[in-house]
Amino acid sequence: MTESGGRLNNRRIALGITGSIAAYKAVELLRMLQNEGADVRVLMTNSAVEFIGTLTIETLSRHAVDSDVLSLRGDGRIGHIASAHDVEAIVVAPATAHWIAAMAHGLAGDTITAACLAASVPVIVAPAMDGGMYMHPATQANLSTLGGYGYRIVEPESGALASGIVGKGRLAALEKIVDATVQALSGSPVRDSAATDWPDTDSAEAETEAPAKAEAVAEAVAEALPSRTDLAGRHVVVTAGGTAEPIDPVRFVGNRSTGKMGIAIAEEALDRGAAVTLILGNVSVQPPAAAHVARAETAAQMQAALQALTPPEGPLFDLLVMAAAVADFRPRSPQPKKMGRSGSITLEFESTPDLLAETAERVQTAVARSGRKKPVLVGFAAETGSFDRVAEKLKRKGVDLLVANDVDSPGSGFGTDTNKVTIFSIDGTHEDLPLLSKREVAELLLDRVLIRMADAETPADGEPAAGMSAEAPSEPTEAKR
Ligand code: CTP
Repeated sequence: MTESGGRLNNRRIALGITGSIAAYKAVELLRMLQNEGADVRVLMTNSAVEFIGTLTIETLSRHAVDSDVLSLRGDGRIGHIASAHDVEAIVVAPATAHWIAAMAHGLAGDTITAACLAASVPVIVAPAMDGGMYMHPATQANLSTLGGYGYRIVEPESGALASGIVGKGRLAALEKIVDATVQALSGSPVRDSAATDWPDTDSAEAETEAPAKAEAVAEAVAEALPSRTDLAGRHVVVTAGGTAEPIDPVRFVGNRSTGKMGIAIAEEALDRGAAVTLILGNVSVQPPAAAHVARAETAAQMQAALQALTPPEGPLFDLLVMAAAVADFRPRSPQPKKMGRSGSITLEFESTPDLLAETAERVQTAVARSGRKKPVLVGFAAETGSFDRVAEKLKRKGVDLLVANDVDSPGSGFGTDTNKVTIFSIDGTHEDLPLLSKREVAELLLDRVLIRMADAETPADGEPAAGMSAEAPSEPTEAKR
């Protein structure tokens, strides 16, 4: 089916084409991805279909083009959801300003945004548009929002544009887009093709085999389904690990955080159906493959990632769990070159901003302005000896829940697989949990979060507000032991 011997051998890739004049280049990009060994299914917006039609694409890709957000596959699956679940990466090239804006705001009006929203795979976005449109602050802000989701942006190039004007906005060289796709997938194993065969709406084989395939797919889906789905449709952002503040290009000031607690929360949220973005500092455990991962080594980088996720139009998540150990101080003047070993040195430190407190403030302002739902905010507090300061810290940070642990107590704190925590709530209560695995702590914590979400979304008359998950529990569930 595909030409063999490339860097994308047996990979299943969705190529999303949007309505730019550069859409014609996507035909060549399709060939290049195939030449690397990929099996490519194409999704198109209606305006992309107007630009280049579907016949060439369908002939070359040997799959029906998915351009109708309401279309069903031959086996009865919804086209864009099936694409989202069958592929290992989504490449959007060319991406117009309109599409980037729709994606930044989660508007699932076309098959490509819908598939990206439903998918938990790497997304590569190659913008192409007029230079003025590209440089406009709105487009730049939308692109940084996509960056905050963990999407890889392949920057456009400068040159003559369709308008005849010279500017920055030409679709990046196709090789760069292919390289970014290879890079995004490096390290992740090729997915077992038997588990997710992709039937076509248009093939005769699909028609005759549809019932049998539908059954097999239903079985595979049932097996893969999480046992609980109470976070389905929610976007959960988790920060994890410790920040590393540079002294010079070789040395840094860090802390003992391994990221285990934050990653356990991300895994639990994924298993309960959430889309998860992990903002990762230094960690010593592997993040789950299904999470969107954005690396943020320093407090400043973590700050930029959080800012991208809280634009003035409203926060882009339903839950933020700030489990990262963010440095409180950083060297005031990191040296650009490695410092030689001579005598002693004195380092001057400056304090870092309180990322959680400033994010909570931005969320508050954006929610008041936009009228959007207020997300739940959760912080962690690493204490030594007593929890006397925690209630005050919760108020100062402006969070709903603050999870305190005594890092001096046995089995608790950095690097362990267990944790003994007390969950403080904005309503003035607190709850001591026993020594549990970090995954069990994550499960109980997310149960508490769901109660807060349900409370926030239930108007005074007790009827759930529109858009609220009907499955939010009224009682905390028991931890899996
Ligand atoms: N935090 C943050 N930005 C910082 C420091 C901490 O966002 N510069 C977050 C942590 O991720 C955690 C919470 O704030 O969720 C509490 O961190 P902690 O270190 O306990 O509190 P501090 O504000 O550093 O207060 P103190 O050092 O007095 O304990």
